[in-house]
Amino acid sequence: MNDHSPRRYKGTLLERAAEQFHYGQPPVAPPPVAEPRYAPPQMPAYQAPDEPLELDTPAIRRGYAEEAPVQKIASGRRTATIDREALRKGGMIVPGGSVTPLAEEFRLVKRQLLLTARGVAAADAQRARMVLVCSAQPDEGKTFCAINLALSMAAEKDVEILLVDADFAKPDILSRLGIPEGPGLLDVLSGAVGNAEDCIVETDVPQLCVLPAGTKSHSDTEMLASDRARTVIDGLTAANPRRIVIFDSPPALAASPASVLALHAGQVMLVVRADRTSESDLREATAMLDACEHIQLVLNSVSLQPGGRRFGSYYGYGYGEAGK
Ligand SMILES: Nc1ncnc2c1ncn2[C@@H]1O[C@H](COP(=O)(O)OP(=O)(O)OP(=O)(O)O)[C@@H](O)[C@H]1O
Ligand SMILES: [Mg+2]
Repeated sequence: MNDHSPRRYKGTLLERAAEQFHYGQPPVAPPPVAEPRYAPPQMPAYQAPDEPLELDTPAIRRGYAEEAPVQKIASGRRTATIDREALRKGGMIVPGGSVTPLAEEFRLVKRQLLLTARGVAAADAQRARMVLVCSAQPDEGKTFCAINLALSMAAEKDVEILLVDADFAKPDILSRLGIPEGPGLLDVLSGAVGNAEDCIVETDVPQLCVLPAGTKSHSDTEMLASDRARTVIDGLTAANPRRIVIFDSPPALAASPASVLALHAGQVMLVVRADRTSESDLREATAMLDACEHIQLVLNSVSLQPGGRRFGSYYGYGYGEAGK
């Protein structure tokens, strides 16, 4: 086991998030808001699926890809090359790059999400393939985590990852990945584009596609809550039984679309920034996202580096100050 092995540190991001916010201990006083439905993250017990599931592969169970996946490019879609240098500069996972502590952390996080996707009853399976990446307040690392999660999941066998920029007020995914702007989800919801599949951008990272936010309007939340949105969003998972849809969400307490998106998603990955997120914000955010049954906390501890605007590492690795 090398020095970067997760076993060397104090548990996974999920466990440390639970520890940070005193999960499992009785509260000193009753919380001021309705008791949220989150609980200490636990690996669900394995349940044999009724029918063979495409996600039930040895590679997924171990959290590692066994061989390079085959890239299938659908005809007629936009294609784009992901800017590896931008990923490197942003401190993100670089496809094909060396295995970093960050990559190891996201292997653990994605495995939890994939296990939940596999473990739910067949009736909820399609919904469980939709993961909303959210946080209580702005700037807590949602987009950072959504991109890293998508890159990590795309390395799995037998999946297609669709990263959806659903932060309509502050769409960041395309610029972070170096992908040119184009039509997206809002254009489909407004009816300007008939089919969401036509807006999807195939990337040069095998098994990773992106759905841009599209053209803003004043009624984004209403459009998201519409029957058409239900059809469009359900269609994203229905179009491909191997597809996992990751939504980069707006912050739960600063924008209304997050709670509407939680109605659609089967899992929420709630990013908690260790140096910023307050416990009351966390409780309020989980209450707002309560429409989603599976809420997982991920602790993102970033620290400003001396002498620059660069942020540091994930909590617990102790390499944020010097080892970059
Ligand atoms: N663990 C991390 N390591 C390095 N940089 C990070 C980390 N987490 C976040 N950052 C950086 O912090 C900044 C804010 O993160 P990000 O944009 O992902 O937050 P956000 O929650 O999506 O913000 P917004 O609500 O404005 O959309 C970005 O520059 C991002 O690259
Ligand atoms: Mg963002």
